[in-house]
Amino acid sequence: IALLLTATSTSSPVRYLAKLSSVGSISEEETCEKLKGLIQRQVQICKRNVEVMDSVRRGAQLAIDECQYQFRNRRWNCSTLDTLPVFGKVVTQGTREAAFVYAISSAGVAFAVTRACSSGELEKCGCDRSVHGVSPEGFQWSGCSDNIAYGVAFSQTFVDVRERSKGSSSSRALMNLHNNEAGRKAILNNMRVECKCHGVSGSCEVKTCWKAMPPFRKVGNVLKEKFDGATEVEQRKIGSTKVLVPKNSQFKPHTDEDLVYLDSSPDFCEHDMKNGVLGTTGRHCNKTSKAIDGCELMCCGRGFHTEEVEVVDRCSCKFHWCCYVKCKQCRKVVEMHTCR
Ligand SMILES: *[C@@H]1O[C@H](CO)[C@@H](O)[C@H](O)[C@H]1NC(C)=O
Ligand SMILES: *[C@@H]1O[C@H](CO)[C@@H](O)[C@H](O)[C@H]1NC(C)=O
Repeated sequence: IALLLTATSTSSPVRYLAKLSSVGSISEEETCEKLKGLIQRQVQICKRNVEVMDSVRRGAQLAIDECQYQFRNRRWNCSTLDTLPVFGKVVTQGTREAAFVYAISSAGVAFAVTRACSSGELEKCGCDRSVHGVSPEGFQWSGCSDNIAYGVAFSQTFVDVRERSKGSSSSRALMNLHNNEAGRKAILNNMRVECKCHGVSGSCEVKTCWKAMPPFRKVGNVLKEKFDGATEVEQRKIGSTKVLVPKNSQFKPHTDEDLVYLDSSPDFCEHDMKNGVLGTTGRHCNKTSKAIDGCELMCCGRGFHTEEVEVVDRCSCKFHWCCYVKCKQCRKVVEMHTCR
């Protein structure tokens, strides 16, 4: 993977996350040394937390999958093809896309570590037992709530150390740290209460509940909305501290939950390897849509090919007594459009 091998000054967490997600299971201290893309401080954290590293790997994969899902219909599709720079240079620049990738990655790590705590996989952490007893609503807390505090703290330590070690005063480090935190907030602010009923035939005489993380899809949806409404910022010195403020002073200041970016994005239309842009040639598009997935916008006005392809579907399904469903296989021809 090109970008993984060329050490650049602007390091991206995505690069090592992509790398981490592709290694086998991490169970030995020596593995930490072999993980390319980690900075020295991360190797140390890795060695002290070997049992947690497998969750970091899972979190990285979760983040990549969710990014590709959220951007499946957009010109930039969060691609991680092996022969291409991971996520492209767009992510090493301070763009809106970079903001999303940093946020979803730090959220993925917090999420997967928390999951591992609750499921009893780790020695260092377990359920959050601080919520217990009977609630004002009259249900019983189970005593095994998701330990989001542990997952968030681990993500802050492991993911943020990259920015902190470079001296967190550059505008890019400030941007990354802000978006890392916004990613974790997308979990924290969407925690929910889940319950289970006990009693004769589900009568719910006794209800036990626990605090649970939202599904990761929900985290992705929240962050995608933040991506659409991201704030363009610039660095300003207030007293002796540097902060990021909206570039357009008419905009209301961003909150901890919002995504921020420094550089505007390219249009992602044309193939441009130098900047890690794949271009949209060969992408599927929707002929009738006026949105970004529509052929007009997706193909950047270059036009598109139309092909007829045969798809096989299940159809005229009948319910048979008792109890199965039998379907026919129907072939139908659909039009498929791809960008020139
Ligand atoms: C992303 O787009 C490129 C072409 O621009 C395509 O080759 C690739 O398969 C797409 N990736 C995903 C995950 O859809
Ligand atoms: C194409 O876009 C139209 C209009 O937005 C939508 O109704 C339709 O479901 C889309 N088709 C596909 C295959 O996504």
